[in-house]
Amino acid sequence: MTTIVLVSGSLRRNSVNAALLTTVRAILERRPGDIGTHLLTPAGLPLFDEDVEAQGVPAPVAAAQELVRHADAVVISSPSYNGSMPGGLKNALDWLSRPWGASALTGKPVATATASPGKGGGAEVQPELHRVLERAGALVVDHGRVALGNAAARLGPRGLYTEPAVTAALDGLVDATLAATGHLTRGAA
Ligand code: FNR
Repeated sequence: MTTIVLVSGSLRRNSVNAALLTTVRAILERRPGDIGTHLLTPAGLPLFDEDVEAQGVPAPVAAAQELVRHADAVVISSPSYNGSMPGGLKNALDWLSRPWGASALTGKPVATATASPGKGGGAEVQPELHRVLERAGALVVDHGRVALGNAAARLGPRGLYTEPAVTAALDGLVDATLAATGHLTRGAA
């Protein structure tokens, strides 16, 4: 079983980034081989505090760290908040990077996308996300950039993106992510 964790940087109910990840999940479900997906939301994680950490990692944080530690890859989709990733996502990545020297993200393939109702699709967040992920030990998956602009207007039926240009880009993201995990190659070995 290849396990992929999907993380939305937005906590909003009708989030376009959550919709992008729902589309990624639908694409993964159509791929051959045994693939499981899990959603990880930054909501519910306390603000990172080394004093809290020193007293014992809170249960929701321990669960998030375990989920990512045992996953084969992670896919993140995030909006831009004032040209940066939302605080909740940064908080989640900080927790996942702990404890020092044993980051849950070490060696973990992580693919990123951004989406926004605006024209730029939040693309400016991607270099920042990559820098933080690499600092936390992750392997950023190179799939060409997915930065979905006008994302609210382009949403298709059932909360999925169906435009060929969008699904082709997300297919590329999924291909590169699965390749980074050795999915199928590993299963066939
Ligand atoms: C935004 N938004 C935004 N959009 C953008 O393209 N560039 C930006 O810098 C910002 N800045 C920003 C700051 C804050 C505090 C908020 C709340 C919003 C708009 C943002 O892209 C929009 O709310 C998206 O819909 C958020 O993504 P979800 O929630 O739909 O996934």
